[in-house]
Amino acid sequence: MARRGWRDTGSAIKARDMTDSLTIRRPDDWHVHLRDGDMLKAVVGHTARQFARAIVMPNLTPPVTNVALANDYRTRILAALPDEADFTPLMTCYLTNNTDPEEVRRGFESGAFTACKLYPAGATTNSDSGVTDVANIRGVLEVMAEIGMVLCVHGEVTNADVDIFDREAVFIDRVLAPLLKDLPTLKVVFEHLTSEEGVSFVESAADNVAATITPQHLHINRNAMLVGGMRPHAYCLPVAKREKHRLALRRAATSGSAKFFLGTDSAPHQREAKESACGCAGIFNAPFALESYLAVFEEEHALDKFEGFASLHGPQFYGLPVNEERVTLERRDCSVPALIDAGDAQLVPFHAEQTLRWQLAD
Ligand code: NCD
Ligand code: ZN
Repeated sequence: MARRGWRDTGSAIKARDMTDSLTIRRPDDWHVHLRDGDMLKAVVGHTARQFARAIVMPNLTPPVTNVALANDYRTRILAALPDEADFTPLMTCYLTNNTDPEEVRRGFESGAFTACKLYPAGATTNSDSGVTDVANIRGVLEVMAEIGMVLCVHGEVTNADVDIFDREAVFIDRVLAPLLKDLPTLKVVFEHLTSEEGVSFVESAADNVAATITPQHLHINRNAMLVGGMRPHAYCLPVAKREKHRLALRRAATSGSAKFFLGTDSAPHQREAKESACGCAGIFNAPFALESYLAVFEEEHALDKFEGFASLHGPQFYGLPVNEERVTLERRDCSVPALIDAGDAQLVPFHAEQTLRWQLAD
């Protein structure tokens, strides 16, 4: 009765809430780890099935630090795609203390690079060659501000005296705020935002500052990692934080603000590397990323904000065209398997053995 009644009254919002399918422009993933070799072959099809384009992280060993390495990596990604895939990798340049500003300019102008990636040295997986002090890349950042190139930032300090749950908030005070004061027009994506402080900072910053949000940080807080036993498959960096931070992220993602957009940070590690005495950071969410995000938007009664977050705000910030194709998500149970084969290895996906309520139609 309620369902028909709402439709009959013609209330657009209520009718949308009751919808059984959602058709939107094809989404993009503005932060993904596709890895290399056999792992690349195993995971790239999952991202290509869900997304038209993706910002591909450069933290390989060795990292993707110049145009030649980025072009070679793009070729390997394209070769690893399933035949029917329609997917464009957008490459990033891994910044080191020695990055040449003119290499960055050349790479951006030729289309080899879409963005640069700042990893504070030691902050996360394969970040040993990262930047030890942003003063060392001042020349690169100046060129980027001049040419309008996006800086993707892993926003955590690595100082031993800073608690791991505070590393994002401290990064804002010690690094990001001073950097934007120094270069106020630099385009910055504060990646995989995990804190209330991060949300407030991005909201109050100028339009050249935006953020990506992962599905896991919208679904889980730190209890998911630590209550009832240590759960390595809920461990990623930046680490999931208290519930109030998760709620701030949900508000930001579903607010409709063009400053927040989709970036999965899908980061596969084989099962043994996660289930170990020193388990790797990273959650593999690529296979059901859209379904995972959509669950959040539905819970927040914000299905009408999903297309902006998934398909419009990202291209708008990067100055790229939106995708013309459409995809449909249907309200249909979707069982996430316990394991996903990756050649000889196995991956445990985010939401393993859970049921999600939406499914991307083929
Ligand atoms: C990423 C990885 O494994 O490459 N891990 C993660 O926990 N997110 C690196 C990163 O983005 O921090
Ligand atoms: Zn990442």
